[in-house]
Amino acid sequence: MIRSVITGTGSALPANCVTNADLAAKVDTSDEWIVERTGIRQRYIADDSETTSSLATVAARNALDAAGIDAGEIGLIVLATATPDHTFPATATQVQAALGCGGGVAFDVQAVCSGFLYALATADSLLRTGMAGKALVIGSETFSRILDWDDRTTCVLFGDGAGAVVLEAQDVAEDGPGILASRLHADGQHKDMLFVDGGPSTTGTVGKLRMKGREVFRHAVVNLADVLKEVLNETGKCAADIDWVVPHQANARILDATARKLELPVEKIVVTVDRHANTSAASVPLALDTAMRDGRIQPGDLVMFEAMGGGFTWGASLVRF
Ligand code: ACO
Repeated sequence: MIRSVITGTGSALPANCVTNADLAAKVDTSDEWIVERTGIRQRYIADDSETTSSLATVAARNALDAAGIDAGEIGLIVLATATPDHTFPATATQVQAALGCGGGVAFDVQAVCSGFLYALATADSLLRTGMAGKALVIGSETFSRILDWDDRTTCVLFGDGAGAVVLEAQDVAEDGPGILASRLHADGQHKDMLFVDGGPSTTGTVGKLRMKGREVFRHAVVNLADVLKEVLNETGKCAADIDWVVPHQANARILDATARKLELPVEKIVVTVDRHANTSAASVPLALDTAMRDGRIQPGDLVMFEAMGGGFTWGASLVRF
């Protein structure tokens, strides 16, 4: 059967690391409050020379190196971001040009923190129809550009970064590698819980992020547990079959609560929120690359990705490595 197989991962972070103590020098907050409520200890913040496309390009090059293929072999780039370099053209096309991929398909997907899951499922569908043979799926964000640095309830939570995977259509056996199933959801009734108060068609400005943190927390735990169960049911697997969960890194308490609800041991959850904070669409591929490079994820492992973000949008994918 034809499946989309992850053959390489990569990531990129801005040079500037900002600790909670650094933030507390400028914002009315403390290391103690941030660590206790979120698990975050530091985040990386892009400078003026670092953009969503430049971080994405570095992450993509690292993923291509890991997969051992040339940029010219890529026929599809799907880039998830809520912080594009420009309103248009798509940041994916800028990455395509920077990598020197000639032709093929390149476009952006916008599902905020679930963006990587949406991009992965979209690329998987296109590969399986034969639209392309090899794809780059990227999550890249510069959320620091849309934070209100006077709002301590949100500005301490986010960071910048990028992650990428190479996805290749391969003819594999039933128990072979590849994406086994993905499930995506959206419920636009909750758009006021987490949004940006600007945009080209409304204010004509970029706007700033606004969030009702408690409501987001409540919905996140319920929705994520439900979608993980859906994917397990669809594939005939159970929680005990999962080797690793690579979740969206929003908040350590959301990760713990979701793990408890599914009776998953916390040791199986890949956690990078302490180092990267919430990097929105970049957080799953950044965490994945971390766990690939430190050797935790091994060939044959069954890995669950999950994420939830503004909209609300949410989703999960079960992948055999
Ligand atoms: N530093 C110090 N104090 C703060 C800060 C801060 N940065 N932010 C808020 N406080 C204060 C508040 O003013 C409040 O003080 P008060 O009691 O005197 O009024 C107190 O801390 C408690 O505030 P709450 O908002 O009730 O704190 P809560 O325990 O809900 O934690 C948090 C807030 C961390 C945002 C939590 O609601 C949360 O994790 N929500 C999930 C949101 C999230 O992760 N969003 C990411 C995007 S969506 C996603 O990725 C899934």
